[in-house]
This record gives sequence, C-alpha cells and structure tokens, in this order.
Amino acid sequence: MNKKWWKESVVYQIYPISFLDTNGDGIGDLRGIMSKLDYLKDLGIDVIWICPIYKSPNHDNGYDISDYQDIMKEFGTMDDFDLLLREAHARGLKIMMDLVLNHTSDEHPWFIESRSSKDNPKRDYYIWRKGKNGGPPNNWESYFSGSVWKYDETTDEYYMHLYSKHQPDLNWENQRVIDGMHEMVEWWLKKGVDGFRFDAIAHIVKAAGLPDGDNPNHLPTVRAYDLFSNLENVHTLLNNLYERVLFHYDIMTVGETSGLGPEQALSYVGDTRNELNMVFQFEHMQLDAASGGSGKWNIRPWNLLELKKVMSNWQTVLHEQGWNANYWCNHDQPRSVSRFGDDTRYRVESAKMLATFIHMLEGTPYIYQGEEIGMTNIAFQSIDDYRDVETLNFYEEQMNEGVPEEKIMQVIWKKSRDNARTPMQWNISEEAGFTKGRPWIRVNSNYALINVEDALKDPDSIYYHYKKLIALRKEHEVIVYGKYELLLADDEEIYVYTRTLGGSRLLVILNFFGNEPELTLPHDLNLDTRELLVSNYPVKGDDDLSQTFRLRPYEARVYMLKA
Ligand code: NOJ
Repeated sequence: MNKKWWKESVVYQIYPISFLDTNGDGIGDLRGIMSKLDYLKDLGIDVIWICPIYKSPNHDNGYDISDYQDIMKEFGTMDDFDLLLREAHARGLKIMMDLVLNHTSDEHPWFIESRSSKDNPKRDYYIWRKGKNGGPPNNWESYFSGSVWKYDETTDEYYMHLYSKHQPDLNWENQRVIDGMHEMVEWWLKKGVDGFRFDAIAHIVKAAGLPDGDNPNHLPTVRAYDLFSNLENVHTLLNNLYERVLFHYDIMTVGETSGLGPEQALSYVGDTRNELNMVFQFEHMQLDAASGGSGKWNIRPWNLLELKKVMSNWQTVLHEQGWNANYWCNHDQPRSVSRFGDDTRYRVESAKMLATFIHMLEGTPYIYQGEEIGMTNIAFQSIDDYRDVETLNFYEEQMNEGVPEEKIMQVIWKKSRDNARTPMQWNISEEAGFTKGRPWIRVNSNYALINVEDALKDPDSIYYHYKKLIALRKEHEVIVYGKYELLLADDEEIYVYTRTLGGSRLLVILNFFGNEPELTLPHDLNLDTRELLVSNYPVKGDDDLSQTFRLRPYEARVYMLKA
C-alpha cells in the first residue's frame, strides 16, 4: 500500500468568477474565496483547486492566459493571492492551481511577437502553417466548433488553436517554450502552492506532419482527436517536467486527459512513471453522448450497466498501480444532480446518493462548488443569457446549419457548460448573496430553495451528508485504500460494491433511480457484523438490512462489515 496525503485528501473545486464577489463588480474574486475558507474548512476538505486566476482577457474564463505570473485584475492582485495562500495554509488547507500549458491567450506577449512576422524569434513558439488548396492546413475540428486553424493576414499563414481562436496552441517542440514553462511552474512552486491541475495536457503533442484526419464523408472539418491526444511524446515531456521541476516539491498533480481508458491512463499515473499523480478521465462523462456527430451535444440516455462497466474498469485496473480522480461534475459539465439524479422530486436523496458513490470509491474525490448543496442546471430561455464560448459557437454553427432554435436550446439546457457556471447560491438575498452588483451571468432562480445558509441550518441537508462522507474518509482507511469489487453486475437499477482492506469490508448499496427495487445480497457477505456508517434515509428496525429487502428511491447506504 503506497500511502500518500493526496490519496487521503478531498478536493473542492472553485470556479472563481462564480464563487463570491466582494467588490460589487458582478465577478467573483480572491477576497471572496478568502472569506469562505472557514466554510470549506468546516466541510472538511483538504485541497482547494482554483480554476485559472492569471491575467487573461477572459474569452474562455481564464483558460486563455496572457500573463502566467500575474493575477486577473477582476479577481484581485498578487498580494491578494499571497494572502489567500497564507490564510489557507494557516487553516491546514492546500491550494492547487489550474495551469494551462497547451495554449496561451492571443494577447500573451509571446503570441503578439509570434504573429508579428515570420522571422520573429518567437515565431516558432506557436504552430504556424501555410494554407492548403486555398483553405486551412488540415481538416482538424476544434473543440469549440469549426477548424482548428485561424488565418492571420499579417503573415499570410494560419495558426493552430484546438480551442477558441483566442487560444493559440503552443509549440512544445520548441525547447525555449519548454524552458519557459518549466521556469514558470517552478516560480509558482517557490511561492508555496501545493499542486497543479494541468489543463488539456493530453494535447500538448500533435501527430508528426499534422496529417488530415480520416474523412470518408468529405466534411470540411473532422474530429481528429487521436491526432492530437495522448501521443507518446506527451509522456516524454511530462516526465521531463517531473524530473526537472515537480519532483523537488511535495505536491499533487492531476492532468486533464480526455480520450483514454484506464490501461492507457497508467502511462500517466502508473506508480513507476514519474509523470502525474492522477488524471481526469472522461469515459463516464460520455455515457450520455452518442458517438460521432456533434460529440457531447449528441445526447442519448445513459444507463447504469454502462456506468458500472466504465467505473469498475477504472477501479480495477488502477488498483495498486496508479490512482483515480473521481468526479461527477466540474465547470465543463452539467450539474450532477440534474444529469445523473433527479433534480426535482428526489433532489436531496439523489444528490446524497451520487455523493456517496464518488466518496466511497478508490481515488481522490472532487467536489465542484455548489455540488455540496445540490445546485441544479439552468435553462435560460434566450441565448443572450449564455456566456460560454463553446455554447455560443455551437449555437451559431447549428443556426447556420438551419437547425430549429428550439431544438438547439433543448440540447444547450442539458449540456451547456454554463449549467455549472451560474453563481454560487449563498443565501436568499438578492442575486443569491453572490454579488451586490449585477452578476456576470444570471443566477439560477431556485436560490430561495437551494442555498448554503439554509443547508447549514438543516441537519439533514446535502451539505451535512458530504461532511459526513468526508469525515468517514479520515476515520476508515478502507475507504481510501480498499480493493473494489462489483456485486450484482447485471442489475440495471442498483449499484452495489464492496471495498476490502485487511479485516475490514465496506458494503456500498446505491439505488440509482426513483423506483423501489428489491435487492438480494450475495450470501457470502458477513452481514451479522454490520455497522451502518452513512445513509440518506433513516434506517431502523424494519428498514434495516436483511439478505433481501426493498430500497427506497435513490437510497444509499454504506455498511462496515468484517471481511
Ligand atoms: C479544459 C478546461 O477545463 C475548459 O474549461 C477549457 O475551456 C479548455 N480546457 C481549454 O483550456
């Protein structure tokens, strides 16, 4: 058992722009985060992951960085950051920075120079190519719709951007880019930050020669993800970053790596790899998207058997080989209770059930701001209320293709990243207590029902369920290190698994739907010795566990048994 503090930790993710505004400009800020450190400490979390706070023109809410060593003016100053770090550390909380190494902003001084002329010394810091047959250099499609290439008149060439046109991709084949990035990472580490979430790290290497993707249908652009995701040289570069910089600090690292399964993930997080501690995988996030077509926007219903298959695979393959990062939600995904639970009738029960699932798995659990109070998706009637560049590009593309607006909006209501980006709901005062000004994006109108202040007053709230789950992790080693085993693999409504470590066995029972299915447990479980650790309904007398019993809607129970 390879023990590490980051395996025993719980991470809370903050999307600063929507967390808490203290100066009335409608945009969250560092002082806002600072004023809620005690709230986070009380919840019991260990690490705060803060989405990008660097200087940025904000085309993608900070994921377009124009100065890596400065703070976005809307969020505050470097002095505010230093104070935040000190205040967090004083409370025993760690801070993990979100770092974008794949691309910069088009307002970064490197890019301004790079685009100025073909013989500028920084030209080769980015990926420039001549056009082909009067069009872009290849047919790759951007994550945010359209080609990955943007034509630039100044030098009559195209630059690559896997995301928005304001996010040009860096050229990681250039040693000066590598050195510059290493220096910058070290600069933050010297300040005392406790780790990094490396954004889009799977994409820093592109296929040699930038070949066209397969295009049997002769489309203008194709999803050629395999030509710029998880290529072998990413590992060489990460290993180099580790050996030169990260290795010297006791930190935690998590990489954002779409497009891989657990076997491939081991090449990032395998104990002997010296690259990253864990990665965010996307397989469970794709269960409600049909493959092909317009990717995540191409919605289909998810089902539990597939979820079991995906999660069990990650649990099994990584056990004692690497480490999982477990999450339901973040700033790029819809709200978990709306997507995988029931955000109306069983909002509280299903939010608690989903939390129980994540926190009892092997791996580090991540909580996204507002998840601990069961915040839900929004459905703005007008596209004008949306802010996310991905959503706006999708809307425009679909309108141009003649798709009826009503149909587009229905997809956006389910999948837009803005679902998770509406302001944190602190209390029932105007704008949910997020700001005294006009929020940069509208608050969800359900804040009178769903807010932190009320959650703190209600001992049965989702918040206290999270608090309990986190506390249990600190009490029982089996929750951190136990080996996972799936039971009743074919049950379409109930998810049951155990975790075993030495003489302790955890039994996790989860009803994923609103029905009341009957459950028959396998006979070899030692039920006589059971102790109920946590549940989302009262369990007493007749409700208690027997070999066969009926579960209530979205019921979740965790028992401690003897192995
Ligand atoms: C992944 C981030 O999580 C997302 O918010 C961002 O738009 C892209 N990477 C580009 O940086």
